[in-house]
Amino acid sequence: MSFRILGTGKSVPSYVLTNDEMATIVDTSDEWIRTRTGIRERRVCTTESLSDLTTEASKLALEDAGVSPEELDLIICATFRGEYCSPAQSCIVQRNIGATCPAFDVNAACSGFIYSLDVAAGFFARKTVKKVLVVAADNVTNSVDWEDRSTCVLFGDGCGAAVLGEGDDLLSVNLKTKGDLDSLVIPHGENTFPKYELGSQRPTLRMNGREVYKFAVGAMSEGLEKAIRDAGVEQEDINFVIPHQANIRIIDAARHKLHIPEDRYVCNIDRYGNTSAASVPIALDEINRAGKLKNGDLIAMSAFGAGLTSASCVLRWNK
Ligand code: UT7
Repeated sequence: MSFRILGTGKSVPSYVLTNDEMATIVDTSDEWIRTRTGIRERRVCTTESLSDLTTEASKLALEDAGVSPEELDLIICATFRGEYCSPAQSCIVQRNIGATCPAFDVNAACSGFIYSLDVAAGFFARKTVKKVLVVAADNVTNSVDWEDRSTCVLFGDGCGAAVLGEGDDLLSVNLKTKGDLDSLVIPHGENTFPKYELGSQRPTLRMNGREVYKFAVGAMSEGLEKAIRDAGVEQEDINFVIPHQANIRIIDAARHKLHIPEDRYVCNIDRYGNTSAASVPIALDEINRAGKLKNGDLIAMSAFGAGLTSASCVLRWNK
């Protein structure tokens, strides 16, 4: 037994930061960002907190699932940094939605949603839960250096959530970690409003983009290939691929190593940039709410991020 997905939700901040506005903050251009990454705009928390996003996305996922907060047996929040060091973000969600179940966070950076699905699957396998909320959120723009054009243009804020019930729809999952302190590091730092301040001295995200790029293409193509093989299906059988939305060139490079038609890849990077742990579940929620998913569809998901972590899985949609 693993689980089936009963409902999904998402929440993004209202402020849209376009590439043109980004070019007023750092020395960049819409053309550079679009052609090097596929990003046109991203959402940035200006008045919203991480708790606002996680609470709203969780409520929408519960509503979509037809599940009440009291029915939840577990809440897992995937985030690299909750609003507080403690309590965990999942505890704040529990409080805000009126649930009473245990709650804890998982930190696997951008891979956190898929890691959390696998953690949830373990609880279902032990038959200790019937309903689980997995909510994935990061306020990355609060951790970036707004004077570093090589990183600040890439990220956005957001949250995605899924409510899981008993079922057998997680067909395969593989998690990987390559401990690394050079390629992508997000230090501890202040976590206060305003969300971005030019000239602030706080510790910020540091990344060797080229190293992460190389890791990402291999992690995504090999991870998807293995997850699909382990699920006992063919690549051609996959109806939707939901890749982590970090760079359209990474998605394209991984796609060229696989045999899944391009129109099956879900991409919303142009509107949100890289929202870290939220990236995969936001895309899942968008295709769910657009009515694109049919029961029996096979969805392959793949993500990578700081750690370095990576994760891929295959799910059957059976809502
Ligand atoms: O969730 C995981 C998070 N991280 C990632 O997925 C990142 C993976 N890496 C990438 O997506 C790409 O490596 C980047 C988008 C970060 C960079 O693209 P690139 O094609 O690898 O560019 P580059 O770092 O090789 O830089 C090329 C040039 C440099 O100028 P010179 O040295 O050639 O004169 C940079 O200074 O582009 C310059 N550059 C920019 N120019 C305008 C770097 N950032 C910018 C910018 N605007 N925002």
